[in-house]
Amino acid sequence: MKLFVFSLFAIVLLSSGTRTTDSSFDVNYYVTWGNNHVLSLNQGREIQLSMDNTSGAGFGSKLVYRSGFFHLRIKLPDKDSAGVVTAFYLTSHTDNHDELDFEFLGNREGRPITLQTNVFSNGQGNREQRIHLWFDPTADFHTYKIMWNQHQIVFYVDNIPIRVFKNKTDIGVIYPSQPMQIEASLWNGDSWATDGGQTKTNWSHAPFKAHFQGFNIVGCSPAHEDQQYCHSSKYWWNQDKYWKLNSKQQRQYENVRENYMTYDYCSDRPRYPNPPPECPHPTPIIHLVVLGSFCVSSQRRKTIPNPGKRANNNNNGKKREALLLISMPSLSREKMKMKLRDSRPLTVADRIKFSTQRKKKKKKKKKRTMKKMKGRGRIAKGEEYRGVFRRKVRAILGFLPPPPPFSS
Ligand SMILES: *[C@@H]1O[C@H](CO)[C@@H](O)[C@H](O)[C@H]1NC(C)=O
Ligand SMILES: *[C@@H]1O[C@H](CO)[C@@H](O)[C@H](O)[C@H]1NC(C)=O
Ligand SMILES: *[C@@H]1O[C@H](CO)[C@@H](O)[C@H](O)[C@H]1NC(C)=O
Repeated sequence: MKLFVFSLFAIVLLSSGTRTTDSSFDVNYYVTWGNNHVLSLNQGREIQLSMDNTSGAGFGSKLVYRSGFFHLRIKLPDKDSAGVVTAFYLTSHTDNHDELDFEFLGNREGRPITLQTNVFSNGQGNREQRIHLWFDPTADFHTYKIMWNQHQIVFYVDNIPIRVFKNKTDIGVIYPSQPMQIEASLWNGDSWATDGGQTKTNWSHAPFKAHFQGFNIVGCSPAHEDQQYCHSSKYWWNQDKYWKLNSKQQRQYENVRENYMTYDYCSDRPRYPNPPPECPHPTPIIHLVVLGSFCVSSQRRKTIPNPGKRANNNNNGKKREALLLISMPSLSREKMKMKLRDSRPLTVADRIKFSTQRKKKKKKKKKRTMKKMKGRGRIAKGEEYRGVFRRKVRAILGFLPPPPPFSS
């Protein structure tokens, strides 16, 4: 038995690292759950997972991997698939697990399916990004890929990079390093997946069916203890060509972010007032611009004559207001306004203080709701649709539809 397993290892190692043609499901994968909801088609070149009110189903790779260019061709459940989640991911199954996720969140017929990606490293996740696709993913098979080497992790849709997670261990961001299994599944996520869990699975449309192809695996399985083995440049995805996006890919990636992204944890301020370290940070230039416009606007406010204000502008009143603001922070905005009206209108300095206080209150409230919503995939509906709204505005202004972005 041992010998058999060893030779199986050797065969897979020999075959990995080269671009092979489609293999049968059984060569590299096995059914992990929902056995009676799995159908093998076309001599194992295609697998159908189905979900009804009794079960979903899933499959996984026989081996674990430490680097590679993993792919599956997937056709998603069609028609009304609200609440139904189709997933393709790598996971380490450890306590502090590493995981790289594609999660397709179904929707009511005619409404767009969301592709959510996430990256876990050493158990730390909460890095959701969401996009809408530029095609109907239920109409045909499309290729979804995850490239993982020492330098970057890139998620691709039909060879278009849609997400990049760089190795930033130099600034303290833990990078996925544990051996991971490739998995795919179809399951009921109607507690969170569609409209934040408000849109439920309509079981009268069951069974839901997802189809998978492309069962050859392009990856390095750690056959021995040498941690560096799977980082060898003899595997083509480790070569420097794959250390960062080339300029064409960079343009495609920016196009996706610009035109198809509906949510990015990096720009979710209520959830992360300080963006996590791996997120791009605003450049000093932007700070300067913001500071500059603030100075200009406050200067303008100062110079706009306001007789009512001027008449009562004395130091005593100022002190009274400052005291009021400091001593009664729990006053509602309306009450504060009334109290201040009783004394005299606001000065510029007071107004700034006033608005900071209001902002702080708002932030606190948002933080509280976000805390409640936190956890895998639970994103406030407002956040989810902010990106959509932005795109709608742009559409009205005539910037959309964007060109099919992916010719160079
Ligand atoms: C599941 O669906 C079947 C067929 O629609 C129905 O007969 C059955 O009662 C349902 N079971 C549950 C637990 O909802
Ligand atoms: C991340 O990059 C550093 C330095 O480039 C490297 O030493 C380390 O092995 C990489 N981490 C992983 C998990 O690949
Ligand atoms: C579920 O689908 C059926 C059949 O299309 C439809 O009649 C019903 O109204 C749907 N239920 C909900 C809650 O949308």
